Amino acid sequence: MTDETVSNAPATDSAPATPHKRRVRYSGRNPRRFEDKYKEHKRDTATIAKVLASGKTPAGTHRPIMVAEILQVLAPQPGEIAADCTLGYGGHAQEILVKISPDGKLLGLDHDPIELPKTEARLRALGFDASVFTAHRSNFAGLPQVLAANEISGADMILADLGVSSMQIDDPARGFSVKQDGPLDMRMNPQRGQPVSAFLEKAKPDALARILMGNADEPKAVQLGAALAGKKFTTTHELADAIRAALPLVAKEDCHLHIRRVFQALRIAVNDEFSALETLLRILPAALKPGGRVAILTFHSGEDRRVKKAFIEGRQGGIYSEIADEVIRATPEERNFNPRSVSAKLRWAKRTA
Ligand SMILES: C[S@@+](CC[C@H](N)C(=O)[O-])C[C@H]1O[C@@H](n2cnc3c(N)ncnc32)[C@H](O)[C@@H]1O
Repeated sequence: MTDETVSNAPATDSAPATPHKRRVRYSGRNPRRFEDKYKEHKRDTATIAKVLASGKTPAGTHRPIMVAEILQVLAPQPGEIAADCTLGYGGHAQEILVKISPDGKLLGLDHDPIELPKTEARLRALGFDASVFTAHRSNFAGLPQVLAANEISGADMILADLGVSSMQIDDPARGFSVKQDGPLDMRMNPQRGQPVSAFLEKAKPDALARILMGNADEPKAVQLGAALAGKKFTTTHELADAIRAALPLVAKEDCHLHIRRVFQALRIAVNDEFSALETLLRILPAALKPGGRVAILTFHSGEDRRVKKAFIEGRQGGIYSEIADEVIRATPEERNFNPRSVSAKLRWAKRTA
């Protein structure tokens, strides 16, 4: 892995505070805690296959979305250069690597210091050595610098699969999870910026309402902004409870939609997601070779609006010769199989040759 420095301070061992503590037993059947699921999957690859066959995503993994559609629009060929701006679990990257071999190269970018080394190791174990695949801990806004450092003047194809990975969402310790309690953090790169807990404590009601509306189209933005701003919430469940309490007239079964939107808006805010996307859209043409292709998967309207606008303006300005006229959606089969694909929208563009 290259680029930003990762701090690897060793964990300190401490003496047991109590003489004997009963070990928490893991039943082995239908584990509920992420740590147990994750342990099980690390031990037992047959379990992973079973979970996948049941239509679920095994803990600690990510199922790539719209792989066939992305391969069709990127049309990777042997010997070509690819940049995967959102490496994640490496699902898309792995498929692209197969197509650009032999002699091709894929640069995988991700700003998550926790998952990136695991993905790098996984792809290495699959046989992709440093001559064909390199992992870069970088925000994708830094793509030009990563290309320049690798003496690449332009990529044949660029992929961005926006948002968070299943590994990040499913790990309660990362603080994205509404389902399982965890520290209220939500940073993809925990070494940068501030966690949601600190962000909310400093927020002002009006500014928070604007964020809830602008980042997630939350209809109760004003009410929730007033209820949540300036307050101290330590865990994801504390925040979810406060959202429920702030909406006494909303039916219980509808509350989860508000909770999801508030979580989405706050995640976008603390990770500065829209400004990174806007930078990527601005630098894309220069990062592509003439005739190069770009594919972007978005998961909500705030992202899709920005991508659509940039591609339309690029075509009008002659930067892109072709763009997706219609958004591409996952097939009904994929939506059934992978619920996370339901909200995905794929757009593509081709740089003028
Ligand atoms: C949806 S996942 C990508 C999954 C991947 N396509 C796969 O097949 O496994 C999104 C990934 O992009 C990363 N990410 C999101 N925004 C980023 C940014 N601005 N710069 C770099 N990485 C980013 C996240 O950390 C996460 O790992």
